[in-house]
Amino acid sequence: MLEKHKPSNIAIFASGGGSNARKIMEHFKDSSVGQVTLVVSNRRNAGVLAIAEEHGIPTQIIDRQGFYETEEILGVLKEHQIDWVALAGFLWLIPAYLVRAYPQRMLNIHPALLPKFGGKGMYGHHVHEAVKAAGVAETGMTIHFVNEHYDDGDILFQASCPVSPEDSAEEIARNVLALEHRYFPETIEKVILRG
Ligand code: GRF
Repeated sequence: MLEKHKPSNIAIFASGGGSNARKIMEHFKDSSVGQVTLVVSNRRNAGVLAIAEEHGIPTQIIDRQGFYETEEILGVLKEHQIDWVALAGFLWLIPAYLVRAYPQRMLNIHPALLPKFGGKGMYGHHVHEAVKAAGVAETGMTIHFVNEHYDDGDILFQASCPVSPEDSAEEIARNVLALEHRYFPETIEKVILRG
């Protein structure tokens, strides 16, 4: 008889509105592959916290000192038996101790085609404004493993969309976000299945 596996536990780290986090929660709602069992945020008023509450998912607020000067978050992740971490719009750099605790088990999404338009300060509207200013013909999104540098780990998946000269940064952002919503949950699922 085949042994039935328990779904893997996923923690989402997010700093903002949480539209990607919502897609991930919805995708894994009744999944046998994974389940979102914790949401971590560095902002008390982040939209993602209300979304977690709607889904009955526990939340954890972190502060800068605790995150960088202690390893307390490891205890929280352990308590919730977290197997995978998805960064969905989480703006703080992941400290080395946390990268080491989740080797190739922590994924980030970035709203551009890395290695272009990535690195410190390249987040949110800054990315799309830089894309517009550069006059490139396409942009997109990248899902990659997390290492100790911003937007730098091994790339797992990229998807692109065209940019026309008339597109505003807001329009570019909308097109990219649609790609993120479409591909982030399924990429997480594929990576979990691959083990
Ligand atoms: C996304 O564009 C993601 O790529 C970036 O931050 C944004 C988060 O948006 N890292 P949301 O909070 O998921 O709506």
